[in-house]
Amino acid sequence: MSDKPLTGRARADRQPHSLAAWRGLGGYTALTSALKRHSPEAIIAMIEAAGLRGRGGAGFPTASKWRFMRTGAEKAGPGARYLCVNGDETEPGSFKDRLLLEALPHQLIEGAMIAAYAMGATEVIILVRDEYRTGIASLSRAIAEAEAAGLLGRDILGSGFDLTMRVHASAGRYIVGEETALIAALEGERPVPRHRPPYPAVSGLWGRPTTVNNVETLSAVPSIIEHGAEWYQSLSRTEEGGTKLYGISGCVAKPQLIEAPMGTTARELLDLCGGIRNGRKLFAFQPGGGATAFLESADLDVPLDFAHTKKAGSSLGTGAMIVLDDHACPVASIGRHLRFYARESCGLCTPCRDGLPWVAKLLDALEAGKGTQADIDVLHQHVALSGPSGRSYCDLNTGALTPLKSGLERFGDIFTAHLAGHCPVGRA
Ligand SMILES: Cc1cc2nc3c(=O)[nH]c(=O)nc-3n(C[C@H](O)[C@H](O)[C@H](O)COP(=O)(O)O)c2cc1C
Repeated sequence: MSDKPLTGRARADRQPHSLAAWRGLGGYTALTSALKRHSPEAIIAMIEAAGLRGRGGAGFPTASKWRFMRTGAEKAGPGARYLCVNGDETEPGSFKDRLLLEALPHQLIEGAMIAAYAMGATEVIILVRDEYRTGIASLSRAIAEAEAAGLLGRDILGSGFDLTMRVHASAGRYIVGEETALIAALEGERPVPRHRPPYPAVSGLWGRPTTVNNVETLSAVPSIIEHGAEWYQSLSRTEEGGTKLYGISGCVAKPQLIEAPMGTTARELLDLCGGIRNGRKLFAFQPGGGATAFLESADLDVPLDFAHTKKAGSSLGTGAMIVLDDHACPVASIGRHLRFYARESCGLCTPCRDGLPWVAKLLDALEAGKGTQADIDVLHQHVALSGPSGRSYCDLNTGALTPLKSGLERFGDIFTAHLAGHCPVGRA
């Protein structure tokens, strides 16, 4: 039994398994046991006992989400109910779902099928960003194989359970990953976030009960059903079950994707990546992608799970750890990220549409040695006024301003030093 439920069955060359090969590795036995031996509520209880939390960024307990869907479906009455799989993965630094889509499509399909059975969905739509052409092809082939083998469609494995599944290649954009914008995109509307309530579990895609789950979340499901909640929980170092796909990038010797126990520390991940590149020193890191707050050397031993990372002042996000060394200017790095978020704003609300480009411009000026103290004051004001969650229509704006807020708090002296007309970093 592998201690890597997500990647343990991947081929070394990252090519996808055929259906026959996947079955040879025990594939679809979890589906068989789910449909033949467990009630939907028993499956949800296993997912709860396993401690699985959503891997899309917010870490919402997966079992609770699936229960909301069952309640929503009861209220909505007969008709379609959707499970949308979120493969948008446009967060800077994130490249975890890509591997799961390309190399392990049957694992995702099996996980999505078990989830659909547990929550009562009738159709699964897997939205994948268009740039992931290999993943889209791999998944499409695997769905066709599963359909041909009678694993999808009507009366699956003689259980009476019907399910259809299809892939939707998204035209792309970061905001499409936000769950209500994803639903709008699937409806063919302009992908902008929608007001909640009503929550998707009550009224989502085409007004029907809908759940949105991340690719990594669903890929963990088959192993939990096959080997049990206790086993999955035991893989973790903390209260939060299982393993995590950590993607480490930036100033490390060997940027890479690592499946490790939930709660692995940044120090251990850095060691696995061969340390900081070119023999330099760690300056800071963002543990969960471009929209998470900085941590520093003193935080290297924080267990990287949702609760501990939050306690340390940041968030686990997508587990995409972006590393800066002592020659990497945080003002430049924050500016780069802000230019991305400004470009990706959907334009629906003013703080994000107008605020982010303004902030990006001020950071550009500072980086070019043309900033003023008044600019830094405006950055502080902007973070205080527009940054907190709830001040904009969705969390794109809050996430975009999070590294700026933490940069101003932690490295305020470096921002000020730029007023002298040059970047001080790496000059000592
Ligand atoms: C701006 C923005 C972008 C997001 N992008 C993604 C994404 O690419 N993939 C993803 O799974 N979740 C993304 N999310 C989170 C989703 O809204 C949603 O919480 C997630 O898909 C739920 O899946 P989970 O419960 O399995 O984590 C994004 C959220 C925001 C605010």
